[in-house]
Amino acid sequence: LAEIDVDVSQVAEGQSITAKWRGKPVFIRQRTAREVEEAKAVDLGSLKDPIARNANLPSDADATDVNRAAEGKEQWLVMIGVCTHLGCIPLGQSGPYDGWFCPCHGSAYDTAGRIRQGPAPTNMAIPPFEFTSDTNIRIG
Ligand code: FES
Repeated sequence: LAEIDVDVSQVAEGQSITAKWRGKPVFIRQRTAREVEEAKAVDLGSLKDPIARNANLPSDADATDVNRAAEGKEQWLVMIGVCTHLGCIPLGQSGPYDGWFCPCHGSAYDTAGRIRQGPAPTNMAIPPFEFTSDTNIRIG
């Protein structure tokens, strides 16, 4: 299926679910205010990958938190849960940057899914998606 609809009505602040799209896990997280603040406070110059990697934006959009989050819903992060190193599935809310940590070779991602440490070359990818209502996300 090219498109899937995901009901996020049960995903409270600080919780995540994993959907499956085109055979890949998609992490959908309603971030806490603190997680959003942490991501916004990061100096873009310190990022290993300065590109948003967001399929909904131009390919050269920079990796600000706003460009990583859902449009107009900054607490929501929707991203393909595949480590950009060799494709393992990172663990959520772990690692030194409070985001995701890949146990395979130690790549650490921040609360916006941006690579901060370890061998992964790029931020985790944001798939094409949109909120079709306050509680439904269409991916694809
Ligand atoms: Fe994630 Fe290597 S696959 S660090």
